[in-house]
Amino acid sequence: MANCERIRVGILGFGTVGEGTYRMICDNEEEIVQKVGCPIEVRRIGIRDPKKERSLPGEFFTTDLEDIVSDPEIDVVIEVIGGEEPALSLIDLALDKGKHVVTANKELIAKHGSRLVTKARKLGLDLHFEAAVGGGIPIVQPLKHQLAGNDIVKMMGVLNGTSNFILTKMWDEEQTFDEALAGAQKAGYAEADPTNDVDGFDTMYKIAILAAIAFGKQIPLDLIHREGIRKVTQKDMHYAEVLGYRIKLLGIVEETGADDEILIRVHPTLVPEDHQVAKVEDAYNALWLHGDFVGDLMFSGKGAGSFPTASAVVGDLIDVGRNMMIGGSGSAIPYGEGMKCRPIGKLETRYYMRLVVADKPNTLGRIATVFGEAGVGLAAMEMRTLENDLGEIVFLTHKCVESSFTSSLEDVRLLDVVESVESWFRVED
Ligand code: NDP
Ligand code: HSE
Repeated sequence: MANCERIRVGILGFGTVGEGTYRMICDNEEEIVQKVGCPIEVRRIGIRDPKKERSLPGEFFTTDLEDIVSDPEIDVVIEVIGGEEPALSLIDLALDKGKHVVTANKELIAKHGSRLVTKARKLGLDLHFEAAVGGGIPIVQPLKHQLAGNDIVKMMGVLNGTSNFILTKMWDEEQTFDEALAGAQKAGYAEADPTNDVDGFDTMYKIAILAAIAFGKQIPLDLIHREGIRKVTQKDMHYAEVLGYRIKLLGIVEETGADDEILIRVHPTLVPEDHQVAKVEDAYNALWLHGDFVGDLMFSGKGAGSFPTASAVVGDLIDVGRNMMIGGSGSAIPYGEGMKCRPIGKLETRYYMRLVVADKPNTLGRIATVFGEAGVGLAAMEMRTLENDLGEIVFLTHKCVESSFTSSLEDVRLLDVVESVESWFRVED
């Protein structure tokens, strides 16, 4: 039950996002009172390590997080500890105890969103997760509300700040992967385990959440094709530039035309340099989408970091507060389960590849013949001579089916004039 004189909050986690959230609630107190109609008061904060130095007095903190979510003096629980457990059990308990929930936890929502939001809805409670996708960029709420009347045909996003920061630093400043990752960690962008960022898990969770909202069903994560950025080299970035492209880690989802079926994937992608998505740098995120009535739309902004993410968390909190003030019954919007996903082998797109080959007559002709026989047309090429009678060739294909491309690439790999297939990436035009 709301206490309409003040809204009492418990924050689970006081790391990058938790501390930013606390700061924003304090620093913008006046704006928040004006918008909600009463003050928001942080009562207690849950942490793991009681010995860590904190910027607030000790009485705020407890390591007993269950005690916070069970506390009858708390109306709203903000979960910003991350990971699956104990976050999931704590959110379940918070809902059981009648508390509204705001979370920034993309892994949890991607895996359990359908069940949790349905539960909140049944209990007349709010469960919001704007910060789970795109940090400070409002994407989730516009998809749920303002864009809800559209048939969303395709969405394509730079959704991981850490990976985008690394790719930008590798490109602009010629930093190594490890140097750039250290910079992202220092700035508070990276997940507790940066594997989630650089191997595409974080982007996978985010595009899965967006797809679930846009298409109305939770996406089975094992049906999402996922690749990270570890294989992107400065050499590929430079060849991509020569061909007029930038390399970005994208989460992409599109309708296939079959009922209740999408194709959803995460991988490094060549994007034309004049596309808005190609211009997204550093820890900035962006989501480009096409809706049947709205047309093309682009959201962009800071996708990670303490204050931008706090902005999304506090926005959700204000939404909950306003709802409580009018005695509303909660505005969680449920979605179902079991979306069908087309396998990546059936994708039709263009491809980039870089080969090291024997620098001798007819090498090109033999490679082109193998691709041609598989129906894979070559559209553009760059070539340079290496040492030891070797050469490097980069091709861009015309649009073709992925299974034809990959099987013909295997045949090309077996040619005696081909030393190695160094890399290949998908292209979005
Ligand atoms: P941090 O690692 O900086 O902070 C995590 C906080 O949670 C710490 O205070 C930690 O306690 C506490 N915590 C972790 N596990 C437990 C546990 N088992 N019991 C009690 N407390 C625990 O994470 P972030 O703030 O970066 O991320 C939090 C959430 O926000 C994640 O879901 C993340 O994906 C999401 N997010 C993060 C963004 C970012 O830019 N960092 C952006 C958007 C979303 P202690 O302080 O004692 O270590
Ligand atoms: N680790 C995430 C990123 C935080 O780098 O984008 C924001 O979700």
